[in-house]
Amino acid sequence: MKSLFIAGNWKSNKTITEAMEWLRNFQFPISNFQLKNTSIILCVPFTLLQIFKEQIKESGLPIALGAQDVSPFPEGAYTGEVSARQIQEFADWVIIGHSERRKYFGETDTLLKEKVLHAKEMGLKTIYCVPDETTIVPAGVDVVAYEPVWAIGTGKTDTPQHASHVTSVIKQKSSVATVIYGGSVTPDNVAAFIAQPFIDGVLAGGASLDPQTFFKLIVVASSPS
Ligand code: PGA
Repeated sequence: MKSLFIAGNWKSNKTITEAMEWLRNFQFPISNFQLKNTSIILCVPFTLLQIFKEQIKESGLPIALGAQDVSPFPEGAYTGEVSARQIQEFADWVIIGHSERRKYFGETDTLLKEKVLHAKEMGLKTIYCVPDETTIVPAGVDVVAYEPVWAIGTGKTDTPQHASHVTSVIKQKSSVATVIYGGSVTPDNVAAFIAQPFIDGVLAGGASLDPQTFFKLIVVASSPS
């Protein structure tokens, strides 16, 4: 059985109260489930990193923590930015280059390369998002997420076969061993993606916001069909 990488991306959602409620509902089922060869990474807003770090430690939750962005600069006079050095106090992972960052904040490949550099320097592991197989993946990236822009939050997915083809090309071109698919992944469609030979896991946005749905997605994904 291949190792699975399942990441959740909360985007700009949830207050501390809502996050605590999510944790209460996620903790029991996940703690009673035998996770085999599966890594779960939850990428929450900066404002929730501390509470999540505490809760993971306290209750032994089998998840790793990720941020959703990182400054392209080191620590210093960059108002509003959160540096890799600050993030590594809480999280092991960071998402870089999500299509929403590219679209709404004009992030370019050059800028994203800087983000990867700073993240790596501080020991953060990176999930680098690309919309297709032609996008350059900077050196040092740990996981690539193939996310076709039209599939994000739309309820439309790529076909598992095409997604597998794209991930295989990404693997060849970038030499990154772990490539996952993202874009409207749900408990109902996740098995078809996981079953593909070149897809190592998924990045789920909407489906990670509800604890029962995210748990179901993990169960389906990690149960061999
Ligand atoms: P979605 O988001 O699962 O809601 O489509 C995926 C993502 O943007 O990472």
